[in-house]
Amino acid sequence: MTSPLFSPVTLSRIELANRLVMAPMTRNRAHPDGVPTDSMRTYYAQRAGAGLIVTEGTQPSAVGQGYPNTPGIHTPEQAAAWRRVTDAVHERGGRIFLQLMHAGRISHPSLQPGGGRPVAPSAVRPAGQVFTTEGLQDFVEPRALATDEVEAIVQEYAAAARLAVDEAGFDGVEVHGANGYLPHQFLAEGSNQRTDRYGGSAENRARFLIEVTAAVVDAVGPERVGVRLSPANSFNDIVEHETEAVYAAVVAGLGPLGPAYLHVVEGPAAVTAQIRKAWPGSLIVNPAFSVATTTENLEAVLADRGAELIAVGRAFIANPDLVRRLQLGAGLNPADESSFYGGTDAGYIDYPALDQAA
Ligand SMILES: Cc1cc2nc3c(=O)[nH]c(=O)nc-3n(C[C@H](O)[C@H](O)[C@H](O)COP(=O)(O)O)c2cc1C
Repeated sequence: MTSPLFSPVTLSRIELANRLVMAPMTRNRAHPDGVPTDSMRTYYAQRAGAGLIVTEGTQPSAVGQGYPNTPGIHTPEQAAAWRRVTDAVHERGGRIFLQLMHAGRISHPSLQPGGGRPVAPSAVRPAGQVFTTEGLQDFVEPRALATDEVEAIVQEYAAAARLAVDEAGFDGVEVHGANGYLPHQFLAEGSNQRTDRYGGSAENRARFLIEVTAAVVDAVGPERVGVRLSPANSFNDIVEHETEAVYAAVVAGLGPLGPAYLHVVEGPAAVTAQIRKAWPGSLIVNPAFSVATTTENLEAVLADRGAELIAVGRAFIANPDLVRRLQLGAGLNPADESSFYGGTDAGYIDYPALDQAA
């Protein structure tokens, strides 16, 4: 019997060879100006067996950068280098979406144009430290965005999406609304103390993410847009009390825009169930850090959540041919955490595929 995991699926109008998604993962190996490297091309091409690749978080503007050596999608040079990546993935029959990630307050003046303060919904400093080119440093108090600046950032997302699809050749883009970056900072009351139309009620806090998605849908078409959410995830000092209300507002606002998928980094099971019930379109679930990556476990999650696709992160770092290994029931390479964020090609493009391992 063929496993449902390895059966083709259509995501809006995009045909995928299987239901396994490579989750977006920051690897900090772009040039300092955000231009993708040849190693990045090799890395993604090696993983083209995924039904869909979602790239590492990529800044839609210089201000959106949160970590050293993350790629951008706001200059022609960046788009041209990404085109080499998407060509290589497509040549191998893969599909690839670019994740649009604006880090907001999860950044540092050393990464900002002119050494300015990072921007955020409100001037609330996150607890903790950030990776910079000079090592770990304390977060600083961010600068609260004026209302017209918020509107300008929405347009930057749209311009970046256009560059990604029209120039860089991506099959689509994923709006990163998860894990404590700018859209999530708007959703959460701990980081959003605004009194304009972007703050206050759950509907107002959901407005930025919905406006960003609407602008991106306008720019490249709904079938080329996905949105990632992480309900109740406190990563990056997110304080979110009204999870049910805010995600109900998000899903209600996104539904009429008709994007290709919602991608949920799973938190409480009840919230995934709430979203599944309210979301008419395709759902990708990422059972983050919760199950061992085996065919049986992934199939069980798909069936239990009623999802169309399942995203896997770290196992794709360590196994370029993950889909084939799962199909064959072969063992998996373990992932080396010390080479996750930055460094050389070691721990990046030298994980062996099965034939090489034999
Ligand atoms: C090295 C690394 C980098 C990550 N970078 C991103 C990112 O850029 N964007 C994002 O949405 N999630 C990011 N994540 C989260 C993953 O997409 C995923 O949710 C997480 O690894 C849990 O899935 P897993 O248990 O299958 O690894 C990252 C995770 C890791 C391990």
